[in-house]
Amino acid sequence: MNRTLVICKPDAVERRLTGEILSRLERKGLRLVAAELRLIDPETAARHYAEHEGRPFYGELVAFITRSPALVAVLEGPPDTWRIVRNLMGSTDPSEAAPGTIRGDLATLLSENLVHGSDSAASAEREIGIFFPGLV
Ligand code: RTP
Ligand code: MG
Repeated sequence: MNRTLVICKPDAVERRLTGEILSRLERKGLRLVAAELRLIDPETAARHYAEHEGRPFYGELVAFITRSPALVAVLEGPPDTWRIVRNLMGSTDPSEAAPGTIRGDLATLLSENLVHGSDSAASAEREIGIFFPGLV
């Protein structure tokens, strides 16, 4: 799988950072295959974050990702492009993310960490199927 799903989360749209985030991915050499500004509905959010169902932060997570439009995109590059994106994103908790990464440079809160990227080839395939079924 040389494609991966990226979501510029609602905080990124609200803070006018989608261009900055996509620009970093494009400057790295990845190619945009699809992109759409979308208000994610609760059912889609539940499918996307199914692995977290039952965790204490699950309700907050679904409320956050559905609170205002997100920019949902598919990026393409070499094999394991998902890993390139994850490295550019930085650690999940922005307070621990390295400088130079999206989260390390632009965010402070775990609950508002700007960007989602698929965390494996299998996740990339599953998540692209949720948001862009025509692409798989
Ligand atoms: P994402 O799925 O959003 O790209 O983030 P991730 O892979 O880096 O992190 P993941 O473990 O999948 O967690 C999904 C989102 O849930 C929130 N979270 N809160 N309170 C907590 O302990 C906690 N753990 C995770 C974060 O907002 C994270 O992005
Ligand atoms: Mg994740």
